[in-house]
Amino acid sequence: MLLREVVTKASPVSSELTILAPAKVNLILRILDRRSDGYHNLWSVMQTVALQDEVRIRLRPGHEDIRLRCDVSELATDRTNLVHRAASAVLARAEKSSGIEVDLRKRIPMGAGLGGGSSDAAATIIGLNQLLQLNWSMTQMTEVGQSLGSDVPFFLYGPTAIVSGRGETVRSIAMEGTRWAVLVNPGFGVETKWAYNELASTRVGVRPLARLHQEIDHQQRLTWNELSAAAENDFESPVFAAHEVLREIKQTLLDQGADIALLSGSGATVFGLFADEAGARRAEAHFLRDNRLKVFVVLTCSGPVV
Ligand code: C5P
Repeated sequence: MLLREVVTKASPVSSELTILAPAKVNLILRILDRRSDGYHNLWSVMQTVALQDEVRIRLRPGHEDIRLRCDVSELATDRTNLVHRAASAVLARAEKSSGIEVDLRKRIPMGAGLGGGSSDAAATIIGLNQLLQLNWSMTQMTEVGQSLGSDVPFFLYGPTAIVSGRGETVRSIAMEGTRWAVLVNPGFGVETKWAYNELASTRVGVRPLARLHQEIDHQQRLTWNELSAAAENDFESPVFAAHEVLREIKQTLLDQGADIALLSGSGATVFGLFADEAGARRAEAHFLRDNRLKVFVVLTCSGPVV
């Protein structure tokens, strides 16, 4: 699903709209050299999946404050929330003031490597671009997104895209067909910053981008067969070393017949991809025996390439 096309119930003069903000998985994630700004260059193929938060945005003329409500009490709804920061960044760049009310319904586990917060922020930028009739280009929206977090720009370009630099260089790529994704979340989070530090301190050097990945970098289309041969995630080694249970989940997904099983982002969610729903449901049933795990079976999103 293309995030920019899931805007519902909105006309150009509407003051309210609802956007479905999808989760992502990293089909390939290579972490390259550390940059002088402290971030790492990365190279990733990212894919949205149909596990979605709901972001309802309403303009409140005559007001100036940003109000955020969320159905999950653990999530702060103050200025530290990425949706709040996104709304405020859009207003600042557009040099506009308006009251904004956002209702956030969370479905994507948090701190899970599924990009939920980043997707909500991207949905907020897209929604406000429409409601405030800003007519921003993709470049303008990407710049605002990048200022909020490294994963935000991707969600402007899904469903499948190649992401590089710090996360700000994004190019859509066509993925042929869909797969069933089984997302297995262990019920604990992994902090991204910790994972980067752990990776940097445990690896001997930075492995250059493989030839196969360099070839994909130039392709306009990608098949799931090609992807199977190229799927990997640099975070698996340091994160699995600290959380053996995640390695076991990956192995179980493969034993259950997944074509690919990988950690997503820096974790802690591990996902498996299946060609058919029956296989995915069998794997789901296996994991549901363990009530510490949260398991989701969803299709990968598909849609026109930007
Ligand atoms: O940009 P974001 O807030 O998602 O990044 C969280 C942390 O992950 C950063 O503070 C940084 O330590 C690390 N990071 C990195 N290189 C990236 C993205 C994130 O080192 N490309």
